[in-house]
Amino acid sequence: MYTLTVNGRSVSCGENKKLLPFLRDDLRLTSAKDGCGQGACGACTVIVDGKATRACIFTLEKLQGKTVTTVEGLSPREKEVFAFAFAETGAVQCGFCIPGMVMSAKALIGQNPEPTGADIKKALRGNICRCTGYVKIEEAVALAARLLREGGAVPKRACAGLVGDDFHRVDAAEKTLGTGLYADDIVVDGMLHASALRSAHPRARVLSIDASEARKHPDCVAVLTAKDVPGNNKIGHLEFVSDYDVLIAEGDITRFVGDAVALPVSRAKESLDAIKALIRVEYEVLEPMTSPAMSLAPGAPKIHEKGNILSHEHLVRGDAAAALKNSRHVVSRKYSLPFTEHAFMEPECAIAMPEGDDGVLLYTGGQSIYDEQREVARMLGVPPEKVHVQGQLVGGGFGGKEDMSVQHHAALAAWVLKKPVKVLFTRQESIMIHPKRHAMELEFTTGCDENGILTALKAVIVSDTGAYASLGGPVLQRACTHAAGPYNYQIIDIEGTAVYTNNPPAGAFRGFGVSQSAVATEGNLNLLAEMVGISPWEIRRRNAILPGQVLPNGQIADDSTALAECLDAVREQYEGAKIAGISSFLKNSGLGVGVPDVGRCIVSVEGGKVHVRTSAACIGQGMATVTTQIACETTGLPPSLVVAEQPDTRRTPNSGTTTASRQTVFTGEATRRAAELLRKELDAGRTLADLEGREFYAEYFPHTDKMGSDKPNPVSHVAYGYAAVVAILNDDGSLKKIVAAYDLGNVINPRSAEGQIEGGIVMAMGYALTEDYPLEGGRPKATYGTLGLFRATEVPPMEIIMVQGKAANPEACGAKGVGELATIPAAPAIAGAYYKLDGEFRTKFPMENTFYRKKKK
Ligand code: FES
Ligand code: FES
Repeated sequence: MYTLTVNGRSVSCGENKKLLPFLRDDLRLTSAKDGCGQGACGACTVIVDGKATRACIFTLEKLQGKTVTTVEGLSPREKEVFAFAFAETGAVQCGFCIPGMVMSAKALIGQNPEPTGADIKKALRGNICRCTGYVKIEEAVALAARLLREGGAVPKRACAGLVGDDFHRVDAAEKTLGTGLYADDIVVDGMLHASALRSAHPRARVLSIDASEARKHPDCVAVLTAKDVPGNNKIGHLEFVSDYDVLIAEGDITRFVGDAVALPVSRAKESLDAIKALIRVEYEVLEPMTSPAMSLAPGAPKIHEKGNILSHEHLVRGDAAAALKNSRHVVSRKYSLPFTEHAFMEPECAIAMPEGDDGVLLYTGGQSIYDEQREVARMLGVPPEKVHVQGQLVGGGFGGKEDMSVQHHAALAAWVLKKPVKVLFTRQESIMIHPKRHAMELEFTTGCDENGILTALKAVIVSDTGAYASLGGPVLQRACTHAAGPYNYQIIDIEGTAVYTNNPPAGAFRGFGVSQSAVATEGNLNLLAEMVGISPWEIRRRNAILPGQVLPNGQIADDSTALAECLDAVREQYEGAKIAGISSFLKNSGLGVGVPDVGRCIVSVEGGKVHVRTSAACIGQGMATVTTQIACETTGLPPSLVVAEQPDTRRTPNSGTTTASRQTVFTGEATRRAAELLRKELDAGRTLADLEGREFYAEYFPHTDKMGSDKPNPVSHVAYGYAAVVAILNDDGSLKKIVAAYDLGNVINPRSAEGQIEGGIVMAMGYALTEDYPLEGGRPKATYGTLGLFRATEVPPMEIIMVQGKAANPEACGAKGVGELATIPAAPAIAGAYYKLDGEFRTKFPMENTFYRKKKK
């Protein structure tokens, strides 16, 4: 028996298990999160005898007689201080890392009540945050230290919650104190656990599956195979390319090592590995195709029936070959960019259970409850309304939680067994299975005249889309549509091909193909500037798109366009720095290109409060806060009367997926319209009491023109955000400072937007300098600790400048999306800075021979 004191209470356990499952499963103290289970992320940090300690590392034997404190065990004052400090500074996004940050902070403040900035960074070194870039978390810790040191009342923040206010995020307190629920924090009575057995080989024919021994295991409830899928065994994020097997059937060929072959269900999650080990699968091993070149080679076997090309794009405007031939300067380079892992802090988890006679209820942490409903219903062969999906808190997504990962397996097991079933990925499963940022090979040829005015672009892009379609088609399309950059020239010839391989699938990742294109576009621009004899800033400013001018895709830039202002805002610091690189770019808000895209909202009056009901998943961007502020702005009501509901297919209308930087504009505008209907009633003299029970529905469904439209100036997207980023290096190549100017229109919550930009920039720093997702024969080799994620101590100061154009767009109170643009320009800016530092023009990420990464032998 092991006995220790947890939050002031003596507790015992007969089993020598790790502290983290003891806290979470036995004591139900769920503020400590399981981000990796490998000691690499810090989400599980608790305090043991005054020291910040990772609860996933130590077994109870080692902790015998010791004193453990979790966030639940903080004093009421400490809770109040940390909740205020983290909300006030805008330090909370997805929130999954925050309780661990709080405990690291408490341990620091306990030993050093007046920590310096460097002390704080050092104390947080073991805690990864994938959302915030650490800046605001460090501010929160400094503020908490001051409040705890000085005593007195914790300030109250009066805020009308209007557009433009630094309104506290509505979920900041529950995320800081660990009371908010992510899917894995939920336990349902009688809940079983399932986890798929994955393919032993990236490409192999499954000859037979024998689960007879596994079924004899005392904890085994069932082992499901493809034969148990009642509806369609194929799922897919895009309905028209459903190519992903729920379970690989006997006789079929696997496509990557993450393919599910069998689905054991156990009474105890601890037994799942033992049960899996008893399943005998016989394979005929086949050679995997691990690069687009192998997949495209003549005679290569087909990965999917239709062949090895997922999609092809060819965008042509004008005669690029002729324009390049007649250009004064022409530069051509090949770029090679790797797969990247999202590394969101919360591993995927879903719980499904029977509901009613023939329905299923699904708790999930994905990016769209309606996509999940559609895919699960199709798999089960039932009408969508039989699948009731409730969104829980999402511990980060960045595009990596758009596809099914755990939801369909949980739903299948619950449906077959008529029992609640949880499926939770280990960190290694998460790293292996969800779609990655595409590896791309890009060959860009760019021309300009003697003054550096761009003339034309010819680009060839090949993406490795891995085993399944996911969003590989749209990602390739966006890589192509944005390849020419935010500049005023119109002659382009851009060809892209997305190729299936036996690597893990690639799909949506913040930037959506544009992160890759930007590296090539901006790299070539730096070389052209050199040829012309002007600075990298100058060539961007001379070509920067201005309102009324025509973007390379033919769309006329609207009056909100403020790229030139962004460049002007960073000029002085760029030119004043000894070693600096610069990049400017753009990103669309919304799916665009004629794809139906609708934001929807119901505003209802219930119990004297205004409920804002949308299904827009908050994956850390603060969606509930955005809709609350838009509702307050539109109705004039205070935020205390507004309740932003969590996504629920029975309560909230389909607001589309959290993708394409679309939610603030699309669901924000739908919210504004619905709130306006309520406001009209209030203006007519009616009170909320008079309106009790009333619902106000609105949607926003703008028109965009399809790809290849024959209009001279098609509207591809309803809005574009613009940015210019400067990366400044020290002499040794370490990052000294990042200066970023962003045109996001009328910013709903400046502090929140700033936090997103800081987080996006740190993600881009990783992309350029450290992050990698190595594969060997189609098998991922990374662990969370080796992904190359930046830590607090490595992040330089960042200055974020908000810039606005001469007019605001009418939608969503003038806001434009920030999510993806936040991470696009910083990586090429850093590449440009390194070129300036040592004259080596790097075309491969993560860059080698830098302060952060030595040359590979
Ligand atoms: S869960 Fe313990 S360090 Fe990641
Ligand atoms: S807020 Fe830190 S990981 Fe999301």
